Amino acid sequence: MSRVRVAPSILSADFARLGEEVAAVAAAGADFIHVDVMDGHFVPNLTIGPMAVKAIRGATKLPFDVHLMIAPVDPFIDDFIAAGADILTVHPEAGPHLHRTLQRIKKAGAKAGVSLNPATPAQFAVEVLDEVDLVLVMSVNPGFGGQKFIASQLRKIETLRRAIDDSGRDIMLEVDGGVNAQTARACVAAGADVLVAGSAVFSGGPQSYAANIAALRGGA
Ligand code: DX5
Ligand code: ZN
Repeated sequence: MSRVRVAPSILSADFARLGEEVAAVAAAGADFIHVDVMDGHFVPNLTIGPMAVKAIRGATKLPFDVHLMIAPVDPFIDDFIAAGADILTVHPEAGPHLHRTLQRIKKAGAKAGVSLNPATPAQFAVEVLDEVDLVLVMSVNPGFGGQKFIASQLRKIETLRRAIDDSGRDIMLEVDGGVNAQTARACVAAGADVLVAGSAVFSGGPQSYAANIAALRGGA
């Protein structure tokens, strides 16, 4: 398998210095910038929209991995791509036609991802595997950083690793929620190749980012 990639979730960054935080994790070895978009409806929290994504886009050349926890999601796809999103990941529950939403993302010029909540079966991603560049397994209930890893999701990662390998397609398998140097090891063993981490990357401030990212990779 290719090298494990680390995608810091800026949900745990200092929002007063968001551009600098993005540049700091990029310099510290991040592979993607994971942006959590929440609407206070699909998940019980509110974060940022396309304007803020556009404002921080210039801070790095790294791909922006934008995780949309909003419903309905379709009306915002073009805005996030225009703001600079490279990967747009949506939840099956965020609209009536997941397959069509994924096609729409790709047609608009971004990579498309599908994200599964802990209670959402792997099969939801398997049915649309032909349309995706990334599958995201949530290992917490989405809405907040700093929650405890739900270990039952490791089985879902294993199931999806097999499905992706069988497909023969180049699809990233990402895990998000409660990922730290310890849980990262189990996620990679189960088949994940992109690790999202918020609190584990941003703890200790900018001097710690490189070591924190290395620990996630090394733990892997
Ligand atoms: C949760 C978000 C995550 C979150 C992860 O809804 O999707 O990306 O920021 O935070 P940690 O790594 O602290 O669990
Ligand atoms: Zn996320």
